[in-house]
Amino acid sequence: MYYSWGKRSDRRILKTDSNRITRSDPQTEHRRLQSLQIRRARKEDRETIWQIFHAVVAKGDTYVFDPNISRRKALAYWLGPKTRCYVALSDQGIVGSYILKANQPGLGSHVANAGFMVSPSARGRGIGRAMAEHCLHEARRLGFRAMQFNFVVATNRTALRLWKDLGFKIVGTLPDAFRHSRRGFVNVYVMYRRLTSVI
Ligand SMILES: CC(C)(COP(=O)(O)OP(=O)(O)OC[C@H]1O[C@@H](n2cnc3c(N)ncnc32)[C@H](O)[C@@H]1OP(=O)(O)O)[C@@H](O)C(=O)NCCC(=O)NCCS
Repeated sequence: MYYSWGKRSDRRILKTDSNRITRSDPQTEHRRLQSLQIRRARKEDRETIWQIFHAVVAKGDTYVFDPNISRRKALAYWLGPKTRCYVALSDQGIVGSYILKANQPGLGSHVANAGFMVSPSARGRGIGRAMAEHCLHEARRLGFRAMQFNFVVATNRTALRLWKDLGFKIVGTLPDAFRHSRRGFVNVYVMYRRLTSVI
């Protein structure tokens, strides 16, 4: 399996060995992790997933979950029966997690939905991008024809930049749909990209 890693202008094609992603660009090595393994989550990952989930939602700036959500409810959502959960492991252990599922049941089930969380201490090192690229690959492999993000908070510049860079387009704006913990009511974007080529 091959992954690209890094900025579009600085993209290297990297060979992976059973989902281990290894960089080959020493110039930007200081910022990036040397290798990252992405695999399906296991039972023993639950505590670390919860810690990352809690750190992300407690800030109240990216996800709609109650910032005081319980561990039980958080894990019931993130590891739900119809959701595939993955973790990203560096030499520091689990540094991020993502979920992949159908966005709708039945006749809408060919469109995927996904959610991403990187540990605050591991941000800006390419983990979000690596998980998103892995997710797009997995979604295609599972037969999804498109991916939709239902709730991208307009002030979430990191996510917006990353999703746009990966080919997602804003297809709708939900005015004031998110009550940001610091900024009050802010817009939310619905973002979409096809996973199949259109002739
Ligand atoms: C969004 C998130 C998953 C990105 O993960 P990350 O590991 O920090 O991101 P990466 O290091 O892979 O950077 C990806 C891109 O984001 C952008 N980015 C990263 N840090 C940024 C910053 N501080 N400001 C603006 N853009 C930034 C860059 O475009 C970067 O691309 P590059 O490869 O060209 O540098 C992570 O920040 C996170 O978990 N945020 C909280 C939860 C969240 O917002 N989830 C998404 C909900 S839609």
